[in-house]
Amino acid sequence: MKLNPWLKTFPLTFVVAATVASAAPLKIGFAQTGAESAWRTANSESMKAEAAKRGIDLKFSDGQGKQENQIRAIRSFIAQRVDAIVLAPLVETGWDPVLRDAKRARIPVIITDRTIETTDESLYACFIGSDFLEEGRMAAAWLAKKTGGQGRIVEIQGTPGSAPANDRRKAFAEGIAKHPELKIIDSQSGDFRRTGGKEVMESFLKKHGKTIDILYAHNDDMALGAVQAIEEAGLKPGKDSIIVSIDAIREGVQAVVDGKINCVVECNPLFGPKVYDTVAKVIAGGQVPRKAFNQDQLFDETNAAAALPTRQY
Ligand code: AHR
Repeated sequence: MKLNPWLKTFPLTFVVAATVASAAPLKIGFAQTGAESAWRTANSESMKAEAAKRGIDLKFSDGQGKQENQIRAIRSFIAQRVDAIVLAPLVETGWDPVLRDAKRARIPVIITDRTIETTDESLYACFIGSDFLEEGRMAAAWLAKKTGGQGRIVEIQGTPGSAPANDRRKAFAEGIAKHPELKIIDSQSGDFRRTGGKEVMESFLKKHGKTIDILYAHNDDMALGAVQAIEEAGLKPGKDSIIVSIDAIREGVQAVVDGKINCVVECNPLFGPKVYDTVAKVIAGGQVPRKAFNQDQLFDETNAAAALPTRQY
């Protein structure tokens, strides 16, 4: 078995000391991206509720959509000598210096939700989240089947530089590339926000009018904002144009049932329990998978109504 790079570079004395100290309640710092979407709210709730259930002293920081706030939060967690740091990184790059500080302070870092690009893989213990590339592939495959490989697509991207925006865009583009008659005619960021989705869709409608066949939105909040813009333009979302998005929040699945969105690919945010199980293992010096992906599914007119009553977020 390949040794986790984080474990290899952390001295055994530290791992033993952390294990001995584990009788006291765990103090964990969580640097969240912000509160941009319903997905994010559900993710924060899952982290907070599970911490309360386990008696974990959780230091929660809302980064308000700014990387510098998250970096400041991590520095403050280091100063508070937390047992572990959980980071949901807003964007992929720019984390190495602060992660080096955490490593120097011998505080393990667990990356959740979004991946990072780093020159030193030993700067974090492991990653837990969804496979954004797979989500983009699933969206493209569903669309190709639904349209017979034809249509003019507008894309509303997530936050520029973030792993979900980068991966969902790349995998979707690769997926539709096999179908030369499926074309992305325009693409802009809505920052994963409902207002962003509405504004971008309004500008797409002004520019391309009724020539838009398909909307691919990187999350449900932006798709729901776009639905509003389409309705205000006197068109029927889900009928005049096909809408595909990602997350499968309850409101997104409801929109599929209502026929306003045609397909949502799931991105499950409820991984609080998995994160704390992993933190405990890392602190105890145990082996954890380098990357652990959640299992996600897809909802369309064939299964959305049946899934709706048990949606948890
Ligand atoms: O990183 C996960 C993405 O971030 C979700 O798809 C989106 O809704 C959120 O804001």
